[in-house]
Amino acid sequence: MSKPVLVVTYRLTEAVEGRIAREFVARYPQGAPFTTEELLAAADGADALLITPVSKLDASFFARVSSSVKVIATFSVGYEHIDLAAAAGRGISIANTPGVLTEATADIALLLLLAASRRATEGQELVRTAQWKGFEPTDLLGWQLGGKVLGIYGMGRIGQAVAQRARAFGMKIHYSNRSRLAPEVEGDAVFHASPLELLGVSQFLSLHAPSTSETEHFLNAKTLALLPRGAVVVNAARGGLVQDDDLIAALKTGQVAAAGLDVFEGEPNINPGYRELPNVFLLPHLGSATVETRTAMGMLALDNIDAVLAGRKAPSLVRV
Ligand code: DGY
Repeated sequence: MSKPVLVVTYRLTEAVEGRIAREFVARYPQGAPFTTEELLAAADGADALLITPVSKLDASFFARVSSSVKVIATFSVGYEHIDLAAAAGRGISIANTPGVLTEATADIALLLLLAASRRATEGQELVRTAQWKGFEPTDLLGWQLGGKVLGIYGMGRIGQAVAQRARAFGMKIHYSNRSRLAPEVEGDAVFHASPLELLGVSQFLSLHAPSTSETEHFLNAKTLALLPRGAVVVNAARGGLVQDDDLIAALKTGQVAAAGLDVFEGEPNINPGYRELPNVFLLPHLGSATVETRTAMGMLALDNIDAVLAGRKAPSLVRV
């Protein structure tokens, strides 16, 4: 039997590419990433696509994509870049990669919390530019995590894994979520039905909600003003949750003492205001970037594609 044709928009880990080579006839971009037109051309006659959040698959994409395509797997848990209704209208299954990136992403959130609160950007700069004059008792004093309230906005898998780690640092967990967690999962965490009420107590705030029309620009001038003065804000979820100009203004006035950001609206073209600020720690969307996790994500994407093409139940299809 001939192998199915799979379009893969980016290079993947060795193990994932090995499996792709065994199971599929693969079409990768030659050199630069596919433009939308190139992706549509590559999809012609293909059975499946393996994409990332970089590909914005809107209604016009689905109106034009080849009828040979039966399944599109996104190499991400987030799927805000895909028009699910338009995909359903063409009978194309959409799959994502939940679960396998929980631990790596929670680790990055802790890195952001620690780096922002311990002024890692300023410290690095001193050492790298040979301006460090030696140990001084009052140099670059940051803010301890232990004993402080960590507010978690969005208490799904990743939010819960962040809470677990933050407890080990002695933080008190408060959270807001569409629904309250079951008592055995909630433990000692304090639930706030109102996200605005959560902000009022969050000395540290970590964002873990999906990007939707309801969460868009959740952090803006109005909501940032509700935080205790000098709060630390981190985002390892999606850039769209933050109104960048407002966060930058709050970082300048000290309303927000420091921020740690792994994701940005319009990335990789981030708001240039962030680059000017010493009190923000910036990473280029590395939440899931470990060999183990990126391999597990690729394998789960392929499990989904295999299942749909074989007419079996897929492990993680996204429902409209
Ligand atoms: C996700 O899974 O949504 C991540 O942001 C991509 O690594």
